[in-house]
Amino acid sequence: MLNVAIGCDHAAFECKAALADFVKELGYSVIDFGCNTTEPCDYPDFAAAVARAVSAGRCGYGILLCGTGIGMSIAANKVSGVRAAVCWSEDTARLSREHNDANVLCLPARYSTVEDMKRWIKSWFATPFSGKERHLRRIEKIHSLEKTCCKGEK
Ligand code: RB5
Repeated sequence: MLNVAIGCDHAAFECKAALADFVKELGYSVIDFGCNTTEPCDYPDFAAAVARAVSAGRCGYGILLCGTGIGMSIAANKVSGVRAAVCWSEDTARLSREHNDANVLCLPARYSTVEDMKRWIKSWFATPFSGKERHLRRIEKIHSLEKTCCKGEK
């Protein structure tokens, strides 16, 4: 069974369990990287844990939840091999898989309902990467940027 890493900050803690259960219902096994309370915390810590699990291959995909989804995506995209996408509709979720081969889905818990996010998660997991030459070429350019600009640990 494919592992999915999930993480959040305090702004999204209250919806994490319901979304993790939903991902399990879709047939995945879920590894929860926190946070575990509504106490204010720093989203990069949880973005790093989830992104590293995906980068290392321990998890095939990741889901990161914060107030806007933005901070999580900025942080996760610093980790090599991670393509984190903030999505806010079924279409953006689908396109982030089809065109960008996103492997981490970032969601805006303060600007959506749990039911919205469930629909977007469903659409995200249901969509394969298109594999089209132009999309592969663009992703390859992102990888080149990563190799050229990012130094240090994986
Ligand atoms: C926390 O207040 C908030 O900044 C965080 O959840 C997120 O939206 C950051 O991008």
